[in-house]
Amino acid sequence: EDAERDGYEHYMLKEINEQPKALDRTIRGRIQDDGSVSLSSFPLGAFADVSDVQFVACGTSHHAALYAREHLVEQGVPAYAFRAGEYATTPAPIGENTLVVAVTQSGETADTLQSVRHAREAGARTLAVTNVVGSTAARECDDALFIRAGPEIGVAATKTFSSQVAALSLLGERIVEDVTGSPSEGHAERAAAFRRLPTDVQRVLEESPVDRLADEYRGCDAYFFIGRGVGHPVALEGALKFKEITYEHAEGFGSAQLKHGPLALVTEDTPVVAVFDGRHQGKALANVEEVRARGAPVIAIGGEGSREVRELADEFLPVPDTHPDATGVLANVQLQLVSYHVADLLGRAIDKPRNLAKSVTVE
Ligand code: G6P
Repeated sequence: EDAERDGYEHYMLKEINEQPKALDRTIRGRIQDDGSVSLSSFPLGAFADVSDVQFVACGTSHHAALYAREHLVEQGVPAYAFRAGEYATTPAPIGENTLVVAVTQSGETADTLQSVRHAREAGARTLAVTNVVGSTAARECDDALFIRAGPEIGVAATKTFSSQVAALSLLGERIVEDVTGSPSEGHAERAAAFRRLPTDVQRVLEESPVDRLADEYRGCDAYFFIGRGVGHPVALEGALKFKEITYEHAEGFGSAQLKHGPLALVTEDTPVVAVFDGRHQGKALANVEEVRARGAPVIAIGGEGSREVRELADEFLPVPDTHPDATGVLANVQLQLVSYHVADLLGRAIDKPRNLAKSVTVE
């Protein structure tokens, strides 16, 4: 087993470090030099008749779906991201041209499969975004897009999240172009940012100061993660990973939600991790001021050039400056490292956290 871990102490750390390669495989051949998307199973026009997109997914995959939804709605395509467990109980109405996209790295999650079956019965076109060729989701959906992340052993999903976001971003670009009749605004810069992701992730891995921070902030009452735009799903993912492997209390919120309840929990002993995607800067900074006023230590993650963020935070975890849609992936890598190093200091069973399974095959 030691050999399979390539000398890393845990599969999770190995898989975090494999992200540049995984992302390279996800993207390779799928973005042309001019920034256009090339997906062999989905040529131009493949989604021309789609009216709206419903993502169904669980856990980390749901966060990747929320991330993908941001781009679609911003570009004018109606899109919704449902938790499959809830969708299976209370499905959303399906129109004549609704596309249902199941996001599931394993392709075997029972709630997600149940949602797909409902969608098919209701007449929807279905598409699986998955890591496993030959999985049930890939077989049962009308189409499949493979994320090519390679096998993931650690229960806590890491490289599959990054690859899902990248694959969904390409799919999203094709859907936007087909539905609206033109490429999304700024698509060339966005495509270039995704092409640079493997290199940018490598830089984060090499330069992250997280191992030092982990020691300083362990043992607090609770940990909150906040963000706006794609920073919101990344905050949710950061909190999920943190609770899964450290067993510490962690919650993720959209920053706008803070004053509607969570702020009551914020004290000097609840570090707040704020994810900045480079958009919505003014509002995001105001949210950080709110938690600082309650004495909470603020750990901010954002583009290395964002001086205001750096100055406001107690700790700053920089990522290379890039397009906001790629910034979220880079910020998430910092968050993976935060969770990993805290869990390691606490001596947790990082690759097999208590009570959790890699793939949940019961409803
Ligand atoms: C379980 C795993 C998570 C995963 C979720 C969805 O809860 O512990 O890491 O995100 O299932 O899995 P899927 O295979 O559908 O992406």
